[in-house]
Formats: sequence, C-alpha cells, structure tokens
Amino acid sequence: MSVVAMTVNGKSVSADVEPRTLLVTYIRDTLGLTGTHIGCDTSQCGACVVHVDGKAVKSCTMLAAQAEGAEVTTVEGLAQDGELHPVQKAFREHHGLQCGYCTPGMIMTAVDLIRRKPDLDEETVREQLEGNICRCTGYHNIVKAILAASNEMR
Ligand code: FES
Ligand code: FES
Repeated sequence: MSVVAMTVNGKSVSADVEPRTLLVTYIRDTLGLTGTHIGCDTSQCGACVVHVDGKAVKSCTMLAAQAEGAEVTTVEGLAQDGELHPVQKAFREHHGLQCGYCTPGMIMTAVDLIRRKPDLDEETVREQLEGNICRCTGYHNIVKAILAASNEMR
C-alpha cells in the first residue's frame, strides 16, 4: 500500500491504496464519486473520462499513483454554485442522453473538446467523439448538444 494524494474537484484528498489501483477505482471506490463510470475493460468506451490537469483522460488507463499531485475534475465538479455547466445544460436541453450511462464521460470529453477547439463543426465533433461509445446510439442529439454548448461558450 502507498499513500496517493491529489486534488479532486478542488478538495485535497489522500488515501492509502495498492500501487496497482487504477485512477477510476480510486475515484469511485475510495472517494465514492460514482458519477465516473466503468463501461468496458478494454479502454474503448470513454465512460470513465475525467480531467487530469485540465485534459480529458480515460481514468481506467492510468494508475492513481500517476495522478499523484494532480488536479482532477470529475463530472461532480463541473457545476458551480448549484449552476450546471453549459455543457450539462446543453445535454439536458437537447436530449443528449437516454440511459445516461455514457453521459458523464461524454460531457467531460466535450468540455475538453470545446476548450481545445473553440470553432467546432459537426464533423469535428463526430471525429473527436471516437473514444466515447453510446450504447443507446444517441449520437445525433449528443452532437447537437455539444455544438450548442460550444456556441453558447464562445
Ligand atoms: Fe475506461 Fe471504458 S471504462 S474506456
Ligand atoms: Fe445510454 Fe449513452 S445514453 S449509453
């Protein structure tokens, strides 16, 4: 076991975990932040996307120890003062979810995408969502929601 410390959603956290603990397991099981989902064991689905030092990362692809000292944001950390993030609002307004399982990962990917590419078009959104799978096949409204949020945030 070893102590792993980081900042998650603005709060300092630390826990004694096995060195093989994945970041997603640390977030869900150690911190109890279950908004970050696990949808596969092949690093393909994107349900586990969080931000590490501001960049979208599949949290099943890194060890908690690799995030030592990092600033991590999960979907629970997006809303500010009770106000949903513009991307969360857009998913709600444009029906960008069905069962909701992929949604936290989609939203975290989208927030990072809008930050990286402020002039988004539909083709780019579709291409950039390659690493996020929606089993309800709701891509049309997900893309609409991301484009709407991108316009809103310009
Ligand atoms: Fe991480 Fe599927 S759980 S990519
Ligand atoms: Fe069900 Fe995407 S909304 S998996």
